[in-house]
Amino acid sequence: VNVPVTRQPVRVTVTGAGGQIGYALVFRIAAGALLGTTTPIHLTLLEIPEGVKAAEGTALELEDCAFDLLRGVTVTDDPAVAFEGVNIAVLVGSRPRGPGMERADLLEANGRIFGPQGTAINAGGADDVRVLVVGNPANTNALIAAAHAPDVPSDRFSAMTRLDHNRAVGQLANHLDVSVGAIHGLTVWGNHSASQYPDVFHATAGGRAVRELVDERWLAETFIPRVAQRGSEIIAVRGGSSVASAANAAIDHVRDWVTGRGVDWTSAGVVSDGSYDVPAGLVCSFPVRSVDGQWRIVPALQLNEFSRSRIAASVAELVEERDAVRALGLLPLARR
Ligand code: NAD
Ligand code: LMR
Repeated sequence: VNVPVTRQPVRVTVTGAGGQIGYALVFRIAAGALLGTTTPIHLTLLEIPEGVKAAEGTALELEDCAFDLLRGVTVTDDPAVAFEGVNIAVLVGSRPRGPGMERADLLEANGRIFGPQGTAINAGGADDVRVLVVGNPANTNALIAAAHAPDVPSDRFSAMTRLDHNRAVGQLANHLDVSVGAIHGLTVWGNHSASQYPDVFHATAGGRAVRELVDERWLAETFIPRVAQRGSEIIAVRGGSSVASAANAAIDHVRDWVTGRGVDWTSAGVVSDGSYDVPAGLVCSFPVRSVDGQWRIVPALQLNEFSRSRIAASVAELVEERDAVRALGLLPLARR
């Protein structure tokens, strides 16, 4: 006799669910790519009123997929409803940039979204709530959300740099003609912006040190700029910002965060504890491992002068963004 699954579903909320990334994300979540194929899920789709119809259409299609794990779908335009009891929040909803824009150009318009959502997560989030910010500028939006949720431990907020990490792994594997699974120990440091620093100095490919397999000119003139500007390349070639690869990276990030066993490292934007001279409190991309459901910054890496100066440049940009949103009144609360 098959015993029916009676476990409480994990409550997953996706904001901007009527948009492009939302559409690429929610079907994979419901199919089990996020939390595995035995964890039941309740999906909540948050939109602004103009986006609710699209989200409702998505909800109808979710129903038509008859996903066994999907125990319910809620569509709402009210953050208080969307974040009530939420375990995992993927904050996608915000404007994407177009050609000729930098992600920081979205600072004011999108920054205003993340304060109220942080407040609603603070009020309604489950004790184990975890938040991934995808909407750009992701690091600073995560900073704003965390600042509005003083009762939620700050290590529950993270920003997505996994797409940059995956891009870097893909580029390196191509260049070295190895499989992506052969690459370990690569880090994307800093901001999810053109200043980010994809660092291969601790990476290995098939067990061999990458720094011995690539020349410095390729690193400085091809690899680093191509990874850092891949978002613009996609916009130029596709005519719109990345969608399926962004949804895929969001799933990788949350899956590793929740189920990671601390084995391999990846990259994620997390609240700095002062490691590697990154000012405490900034949301910065670091090398991380997930241990018992918590991102831990990989400690004590020796950084050469080149790496130090690249990281410092990206961190300086994060400081500027933080100061800009503070000046706009978007960072009103001091964290406890
Ligand atoms: P999109 O315009 O297709 O969808 C965004 C959706 O968000 C829209 O449906 C809109 O109605 C909704 N929205 C706007 N404000 C909202 C709010 N306050 N609450 C809930 N929903 C809201 O855009 P997209 O292509 O899905 O991209 C979404 C965001 O993700 C953009 O900011 C984009 O730059 C960013 N992005 C980040 C990464 C990353 O690596 N961190 C990668 C790709 C895209
Ligand atoms: C990306 O990296 O593809 C996204 O952040 C979208 C963008 O604006 O580049």
